[in-house]
Amino acid sequence: MSDDVGGVQIDLRNLTKRYPGQAKPAVDDVTMTIQAGEIVVFVGPSGSGKTTTMKLINRLIEPTSGEILINGEDARKKKADELRRHIGYVIQAGGLFPHMTVADNIAIVPRILKWDRKRIAERVEELLTMVGLEPEIYTTRYPRQLSGGQQQRVGVARALAADPPVLLMDEPFGAVDPITRAKLQDELLALQDELSKTIVFVTHDFDEAVKLGDRIAVLAEGSRIVQYAEPAEILANPADDFVRGFIGENGAMKLLNVTRVADIDLDQALTVAPEADAAEVHRELADRDEHWAVVLDRGAGRPVRWVNREELADASGPVEDFGGPVDVTISGRSTLQEALEALLRSDAELVPVVVKRRYRGLVTLNTVQQAIASLREKAKRR
Ligand SMILES: Nc1ncnc2c1ncn2[C@@H]1O[C@H](COP(=O)(O)OP(=O)(O)OP(=O)(O)O)[C@@H](O)[C@H]1O
Ligand SMILES: [Mg+2]
Repeated sequence: MSDDVGGVQIDLRNLTKRYPGQAKPAVDDVTMTIQAGEIVVFVGPSGSGKTTTMKLINRLIEPTSGEILINGEDARKKKADELRRHIGYVIQAGGLFPHMTVADNIAIVPRILKWDRKRIAERVEELLTMVGLEPEIYTTRYPRQLSGGQQQRVGVARALAADPPVLLMDEPFGAVDPITRAKLQDELLALQDELSKTIVFVTHDFDEAVKLGDRIAVLAEGSRIVQYAEPAEILANPADDFVRGFIGENGAMKLLNVTRVADIDLDQALTVAPEADAAEVHRELADRDEHWAVVLDRGAGRPVRWVNREELADASGPVEDFGGPVDVTISGRSTLQEALEALLRSDAELVPVVVKRRYRGLVTLNTVQQAIASLREKAKRR
């Protein structure tokens, strides 16, 4: 395990769970690897076996056959309660104990681990702050005195209490409004930046899966893995109509949202210095059969002006006396969706990309279209 990865790898091998009296297994011969420090999102219809798979991982239920390896070790060789202390579990629909205060709910595992009272109190305070609930207000409240979203935060705090390397989160943000939900998602991503847990996260919301997942597993009945890949790959090349159904109507828009400008082929235009001769720039544009040149400032390499071929006809003097200022730029970290937004906002048909203050190339509508086509092509070849 490297220093900056707090999580451990989980391997499911030919995992099967058959509930007594059920014709079909709830989990049917599932094999997958969940890499250390990743968020893997399970997406699948109701009854497909997502909760069952989670409960197999922390041994709340035992498999009919197959193996679970956690950090390379057979989970069945550990005591179930010992195992569960290393796996935080956020239960579908909250699952706080109603007769216990917020603090007592969070302290369940630390108490089992026999931490002293001071350490427990400090940890509770730290966790409440982490999930955005003021300790002075919330420690002594009971779950019924909290909103749904607040209860879910406490659920997340409880799962994190003993700093487990693995977190299982079963629709943890299901019961909250879209705004609170987006906030909880952002908080989880910020926490994950810091903690690098191995997280298995269940949702019915594909947008949530795209936002949170390092990888998404699209599951069908029996937890059968229909596709298991990075969000961009699933969006670019859904395995079949079942996966397409989960993505919904605007897969291409979603792909724009998960692709960064730094990762695509940019367009290039003629770049010139401010003092370059306008007539010469005009000739060069004509030779290249191009319409736009970008003027970079002296030294720094920042794009400062656009000039177009038409207005340089019969021009003389320095090129910086012509054209117009660059009004909008984007960074390599911008998503293609942000690039599109910038294009629509700008007066120009091109938006320069600036990385570390230097000009790197251009995005046009055509660049975006080409990038999507090439992502699809690449995903298909994989
Ligand atoms: N204790 C049980 N006894 C018998 N069958 C069960 C039991 N728990 C779940 N099942 C069945 O196993 C299948 C998988 O259930 P599971 O709860 O894992 O689905 P899920 O994917 O989590 O669904 P949801 O999205 O609705 O939460 C379902 O057909 C369900 O009816
Ligand atoms: Mg479930």
